[in-house]
Amino acid sequence: MSKFEFIKVAKVADLPSGAKLRVEYDGDDVGLFNLNGELYAISDICTHDDGPLLGGHMLGDCIVCPRHGAQFNIKTGQQTMPAFAPVPLYEVKIVGEDILIAPK
Ligand code: FES
Repeated sequence: MSKFEFIKVAKVADLPSGAKLRVEYDGDDVGLFNLNGELYAISDICTHDDGPLLGGHMLGDCIVCPRHGAQFNIKTGQQTMPAFAPVPLYEVKIVGEDILIAPK
């Protein structure tokens, strides 16, 4: 369980299967994903050169950075070149109709 406070960022209805959504946690941009009914959240800042990731397309479990093509696994945060560091992950939970996140 995260040591950070969970905050509400979206409604479950906002994120159907296959969708992605940019939300905010304490001023930080976060990408929220529905991958086959499972919800994931990662930082929306590419670790290569700080570009936003959400404008990229999905490739399996990965989002492809639209700037230089690094891929980030939305389940693990792991990266491919040209990025050298994984993206931070967030925990996701559903309470009623709401989606809440907290940094891992
Ligand atoms: S900013 Fe994302 S790959 Fe360069």
